[in-house]
Amino acid sequence: MHFSLWEKLGFALLTATWVAFGANYVGNTIIHTEPLAESAYKIELEAAEQAPAAEVASAEESALTLLASADLGKGAKTFKKCASCHSNTDGAKHKVGPNLWDVVGRAKASAAGYKFSGALKDKGGDWSFADLDQFLASPKGFAKGTKMSFAGLKKASDRAAVLVYLQSLSKTPKPLP
Ligand code: HEC
Repeated sequence: MHFSLWEKLGFALLTATWVAFGANYVGNTIIHTEPLAESAYKIELEAAEQAPAAEVASAEESALTLLASADLGKGAKTFKKCASCHSNTDGAKHKVGPNLWDVVGRAKASAAGYKFSGALKDKGGDWSFADLDQFLASPKGFAKGTKMSFAGLKKASDRAAVLVYLQSLSKTPKPLP
């Protein structure tokens, strides 16, 4: 059998197309689509978290019920967000914000040698887990006019972790509520 040059070229093209399609098909089958599905889902979740309505809802969600299962290690990591403004050891100097050693159960705005805003002084009472939860969810929402310029920890699980971390900053840690 004799093929013309054009026929040969045609076969070559066809074969190349099939190989390309085949490889694509096999590739898609081997690298199955689960990782993609997973990240698409995560993006959806993140988008939901960024939605103002969802933010308000999760900020209103209490971290208190999560305290018993909260992870101290995660709290220590999350505290890095606070550490630029807060020291965390006994007798350490205040930074932009007051030293947080033994803050759980302490009277609000009472750390010696730190100049608190009137907003926080006016709140009164001790730092209970419940008050800390609300303050950390939205500092300005809890104490309008506070000079803590921090947006807040929107996720209840993050706040629960930080709360057990704050609890650990004491020689005599206060019991969980
Ligand atoms: C940008 C700096 C900044 C960051 C970040 C920050 N804080 Fe503060 N924080 C402050 C300032 C300033 C005050 C004093 C507020 C006032 O007087 O109104 C404060 C006050 C507080 C108080 C009250 C202490 C007391 O003795 O009454 C607590 C508790 C606290 N912060 C916890 C945290 C935690 C936990 C984080 C991290 C999740 C954090 N802060 C992040 C600046 C910061």
